[in-house]
Amino acid sequence: MIKFTIQHIKDFKHSRKPFPTITAYDYTSAQIIDEAKIPLILVGDSASMMVYGYDTTIPVSMEEMLFLVRAVTRGATHSLVVADMPFLSYQPSIKETLNNAGRFIKEGRASAVKIEGGTHVRKHVSSLVENGIPVLGHVGLTPQSYHQLSGYKMQGKTVAGAQKIIDDATALQEAGSFGVVLECIPENLAKQITNTLSIPTIGIGSGHHCDGQIQVFHDVLGFSPLKPPKHAMQYDTMYSNVLNSIKKYKLDIENQ
Ligand code: KIV
Repeated sequence: MIKFTIQHIKDFKHSRKPFPTITAYDYTSAQIIDEAKIPLILVGDSASMMVYGYDTTIPVSMEEMLFLVRAVTRGATHSLVVADMPFLSYQPSIKETLNNAGRFIKEGRASAVKIEGGTHVRKHVSSLVENGIPVLGHVGLTPQSYHQLSGYKMQGKTVAGAQKIIDDATALQEAGSFGVVLECIPENLAKQITNTLSIPTIGIGSGHHCDGQIQVFHDVLGFSPLKPPKHAMQYDTMYSNVLNSIKKYKLDIENQ
């Protein structure tokens, strides 16, 4: 089995089939995803909710993310692992961006980092790339800006909003990103950006025209008792499956 590299991910731009990517937060799920030959695993800051039980992605810390990144890279021997930079681990300065991204690569053994934002983080992206750290961009709905965006809403619905996302994605490509996540933007806008950029786009809630797609592990497997987001692709109902097994275990012990 091949070990996926940044070049393999870039090459998906020219393949006819979209490529799948998914989040993971621990060793066991990384092993399963790796065996399924998924090219890229994102240790997403969605761990803030999925693993740590916070209400948004805002509270999760560098230390909390680093624990998860270490576990995932131990389980993923073939999939490329990208570490998501948490809120305020890169926004304050280029120096902090380099130090924190460097920790994910050096201590976490990730191959790349993801940061949210466009034109305003172009310098952060270019200095990471110049220092040998590959970057996946993320535009459209950027959950770390939850308050600024007044909630999780589709982005780029107005002409000005759409142009901003095009400019952001273009700035990320110019700064050296190897790919860009397009989250919750209109399908036609995602198509236009995908056709314009020379780096792969990875969509979530942005239609099927992107070069790749990303989903959250817990949504795909139905690990939450709550309804998943509209764009989630759910293949299992793990919450009730596991609940039933735990109840059976409880009864078995009580009836011994
Ligand atoms: O944190 C995350 O899981 C993400 C993906 C949804 C792109 O950023």
